[in-house]
Amino acid sequence: MSASRNRCHVLFVCLGNICRSPAAEIIFRKKVADAGRSHEFHIDSAGTIGHHHGSPPDHRMAQALTRKGFEVTGRARRIEPHDLGKFALIVTMDESNLADVRALDPGGQSHAKIRSFVGFCRRHSDLRVPDPYYGGPSGFAHVIELLIDGCEGILEEIPAN
Ligand code: 4NP
Repeated sequence: MSASRNRCHVLFVCLGNICRSPAAEIIFRKKVADAGRSHEFHIDSAGTIGHHHGSPPDHRMAQALTRKGFEVTGRARRIEPHDLGKFALIVTMDESNLADVRALDPGGQSHAKIRSFVGFCRRHSDLRVPDPYYGGPSGFAHVIELLIDGCEGILEEIPAN
């Protein structure tokens, strides 16, 4: 086990931290474990609003993830300015999240590490990971497919150490 400071810190960010970003965290953690690379990463997620602070993932997302064989964990939290210094890669789900995270970095020092999730997708050409909160079950299934695609892309992009 390497020390936490030697790991690559990856943070997924959406609006509420109960649907998309906790799912991305769960899926990326599983991809990393399946690749035998858990010791290389510190993985977390956060929301740009604190409205759901302390809540577990939305039950509809939890159900969709469980159906796909993922173990559902995590409690919502709001992103804090110090996360920008702590994490090496901050991955946002849509344009609104991207703008909100960039607003925490007015000097632009973290600009290069704040990136859009869909930029890592290899098989999908969606412009964003859509917010499934107000939609039906198919929205959650589509989000999971996008997240699997992009999480594989992130893992490919970060060389094994
Ligand atoms: P998320 O979805 O950003 O993927 O966690 C949402 C969760 C909560 C709300 C909106 C989107 N909300 O309005 O409370």
